[in-house]
Amino acid sequence: MERKKVWAVYFSATGTTERIVLTIAKKLGEELGLPVEKFDFTLKSVRALPKSFAPTDIVVFGTPVIAGRVPNVLLKYLDALKGKEALAVPVVLYGNRNYDDALIELRDILTKQGFKPVAAGAFIGEHSFSEKLGKERPDGKDLAVAAEFAAEIAKKTKGADFDENSLIAVKGESPLRPYYQPRDSKGNPIDIRKVTPKTNGKCVNCKLCAVICPLGSIRFEYVGEMQGICMKCCACIKKCPVGAKYFDDPNFLYHKEELELQYSRRAEPEIFV
Ligand SMILES: Cc1cc2nc3c(=O)[nH]c(=O)nc-3n(C[C@H](O)[C@H](O)[C@H](O)COP(=O)(O)O)c2cc1C
Repeated sequence: MERKKVWAVYFSATGTTERIVLTIAKKLGEELGLPVEKFDFTLKSVRALPKSFAPTDIVVFGTPVIAGRVPNVLLKYLDALKGKEALAVPVVLYGNRNYDDALIELRDILTKQGFKPVAAGAFIGEHSFSEKLGKERPDGKDLAVAAEFAAEIAKKTKGADFDENSLIAVKGESPLRPYYQPRDSKGNPIDIRKVTPKTNGKCVNCKLCAVICPLGSIRFEYVGEMQGICMKCCACIKKCPVGAKYFDDPNFLYHKEELELQYSRRAEPEIFV
């Protein structure tokens, strides 16, 4: 099958998944001499319509890792994708803890939707909750691995023995393990699902947080109020120009600090080609 286009497709609330996916897709396009198109499905309005691809596409498809898995708020949207036999490169971005079963889950979702996953990768980005964990990653070293990964994918797909129907093997368990469970100091489960960000007096009502919230959960008319669930992606906190959004829930803050202490080592990208 002749390939005609490379796609960079991603959900990325704080931009780390976006940077890795764009780096891979750009280099893949260069290596294969193909145009690159991007499709960012971070915003709820974009996810209102199902997305289809073509058999001539190569789709670099990225999501962040949430609780060791593909974000569950995206499952319904992903279930409506039409891969139409496009080649796919599933990519997950995690915050320096672990990606657990997210990559195998994304690979299997894409397969079910009609894609052919031929390579896959797990990369590291600054953790949404923190400015210490995976600080400022992906960095130059990560982007170099991403570009090298793309060069290897190009070589593989151009090879005489390339079999597009051979599913790429990745790390992870099947059946999938449960979502990662944060715990308190006594080992009891912490439930942060209902925790939402607060707004302080610095807010200038610029509305940016309401516009960028991937779940459309911040009320546009009054940005101090929530109108839906919060996935704790921290886009509103990290992108607020005046530092007006914050979390003060003790369980959330305990979990963040525990992660920072426990996972201070540098995790490295893993690629499967
Ligand atoms: C609710 C939540 C759960 C997360 N769970 C994990 C996890 O299990 N392992 C991990 O290493 N990072 C985890 N992260 C961190 C994200 O995977 C990481 O920050 C990612 O880079 C965010 O991608 P983005 O910048 O494209 O939004 C979690 C983030 C959030 C918001």
